[in-house]
Amino acid sequence: MSILKLDKAMIRFGGLVAVNEVSFELNKGDLFGLIGPNGAGKTTCFNLITGVYKPTSGQILFNGTDITGTPSNKIAKLGICRTFQNIRLFKALSVLENVVVGGFLRHKTGLFSALAYLPNSIHETDKLKADAMELLRVVNLDHVAHVRSADLSYGMQRRLEIARAMATQPELLLLDEPAAGMNPQEKEELLLMVKKIRDEHGMTVLLIEHDMRFVMGLCERIVVLDHGEEIAQGPPSAIRNDPKVIAAYLGEAV
Ligand SMILES: Nc1ncnc2c1ncn2[C@@H]1O[C@H](COP(=O)(O)OP(=O)(O)O)[C@@H](O)[C@H]1O
Ligand SMILES: [Mg+2]
Repeated sequence: MSILKLDKAMIRFGGLVAVNEVSFELNKGDLFGLIGPNGAGKTTCFNLITGVYKPTSGQILFNGTDITGTPSNKIAKLGICRTFQNIRLFKALSVLENVVVGGFLRHKTGLFSALAYLPNSIHETDKLKADAMELLRVVNLDHVAHVRSADLSYGMQRRLEIARAMATQPELLLLDEPAAGMNPQEKEELLLMVKKIRDEHGMTVLLIEHDMRFVMGLCERIVVLDHGEEIAQGPPSAIRNDPKVIAAYLGEAV
């Protein structure tokens, strides 16, 4: 069943067409990869899906509903959440607090009443903390729950971003270069983690990744962009041997 569909999505920034009539579709439960050289338009696709930018033309459907041009806060409430290529954490807050803040989005008690510990929100705050600890276990950060997030290693900060995004209980999770800056062992752990998030938490995952080995080992289907154009789409086995994909990556310093 279709969860996300881009139908000829296009966006122009002045003279530059950053994403040019790109179409792809994810079914519920997919682990889908979006790859391509630097500047290919990958992050811009995430910005289109999450309502940061409105497409110049084309359509974006989520669970069959047209969400083209819907503002980002509404899209988050509909069930799409993302991480960022450049880590965006609340550096002064603890690891646990970062995930709790993510969870506020889906709770009826607002941020301010929860922070002020109004009587009716104490229970919800406890529940948020318990849920947040559960997510920290998923990304293997429960042992550093009370550490300031700024004091975490880079790889751990990336995993924390994933836990925070999951705290909104999205149906669709978008990960922008989650393995960037990680060492091979951290990447291997992340790969298993993302698989688990899909298998055990029922989330559909679309991820952007630069590391080919990572993406080929994780994703079941991949779409490849180059200069805003879709140049290939299919399973890793087909993408790996596609001459257009090889040519697009040849000019890249890896
Ligand atoms: N807000 C913007 N204004 C102008 N150009 C942009 C903007 N956002 C992205 N671009 C341009 O669009 C192209 C694609 O960028 P991006 O999607 O970030 O690439 P990728 O994530 O694949 O590396 C780049 O040439 C980038 O400079
Ligand atoms: Mg990018």
